[in-house]
Amino acid sequence: MATHTRGLTETTSVRTRGLTRSFEGRAVLDGLDLEVEPGEFVVLLGRSGSGKSTLLRALAGLDDGVAGSGEIDVPEQISVVFQDSRLLPWQRVLTNVVLGLRGGGARTKGREALAEVGLAGRERAWPGRLSGGEQQRVALARSLVREPQLLLADEPFGALDALTRIRMHGLLRALHERHRPAIVLVTHDVDEAVVLADRVLVLDAGRIGTELRIDIEAPRDPSDPRFAAIRTELLAALGVGGPRSDEEAA
Ligand SMILES: Nc1ncnc2c1ncn2[C@@H]1O[C@H](COP(=O)(O)OP(=O)(O)OP(=O)(O)O)[C@@H](O)[C@H]1O
Ligand SMILES: [Mg+2]
Repeated sequence: MATHTRGLTETTSVRTRGLTRSFEGRAVLDGLDLEVEPGEFVVLLGRSGSGKSTLLRALAGLDDGVAGSGEIDVPEQISVVFQDSRLLPWQRVLTNVVLGLRGGGARTKGREALAEVGLAGRERAWPGRLSGGEQQRVALARSLVREPQLLLADEPFGALDALTRIRMHGLLRALHERHRPAIVLVTHDVDEAVVLADRVLVLDAGRIGTELRIDIEAPRDPSDPRFAAIRTELLAALGVGGPRSDEEAA
C-alpha cells in the first residue's frame, strides 16, 4: 500500500519510508528512506534515469497511477518549480503569479513576490517577452506567494546560461534565508549542489546512496579546497572520475 499524507509536522518536513515506484515492473525507487528538516536545503543528484524526477513527483503527490508502495509524509503547503517556467502565455506576469490563489490581497502579495525576485514593474508583461531567467524568476515568485513549507524544484536552472544560473543561485539562497521553506532541489550540476545545499544526496539504485553535509560558510567559493574536495567526492559517487569533469555528470 502506498500512502501520501499532508499535514506534517513541526520536527520534519519530509519523511519517506520504504518508498518504491516502478515502471513496467522495474523498480526505479526501491525502498527509499528520506528525512528533511524544516528549513533545510537538500540537493538531490543522481545519474540520468536514476529516479530524481520520479522522487520529486512522488513527494509532490503528482504521480497518480504509478505503481508503488511505501509512506510519504509532507507538509500542507507545497510548491513545485520545474525546468521550464510553465507560465500561461496568454496571461500577464502578475496574473500568472497569483493564479488560483485564494483570499484577499492576492495581487498585493503577488506584487511583493515579484519585487522580491527583482521584477517590480514587470507585472503587466507577457511571459513570452521575458528572458528565460526572468521567466524562472516569475516561477519562483509564483511558488513563494503560496508561502510553501516545502519547495520542490526539478532542475529549475537547467535551461539557463551559466551567468544567469549564478545569479539565480544568489537569489534562491536569499529567498531561502528570508522564508526558510524546506527545499528539495534536483540538479545535474555538482557545483550548483555544493553552492546551494545544506546537505547533498546522491540517488543510486533506487535509494539514497551518498549523503554529504556541507558546512562551508556562504558565499561558497568553487576554488576553496573544501569545495573541491566535496566536488571530487560527489563526482566519484556519480561514477565520474576527475575533479573538473562536471559536464560528464550531466
Ligand atoms: N511515466 C513513465 N513511464 C515509464 N517509465 C518511466 C516513466 N517515468 C519515468 N520512467 C523511467 O523511470 C526512470 C527514472 O526516470 P526519472 O525521470 O525519474 O529520472 P531522472 O533521474 O529524473 O533522470 P534525468 O536526470 O534524465 O531527468 C527512467 O528509466 C525512466 O525511463
Ligand atoms: Mg529528471
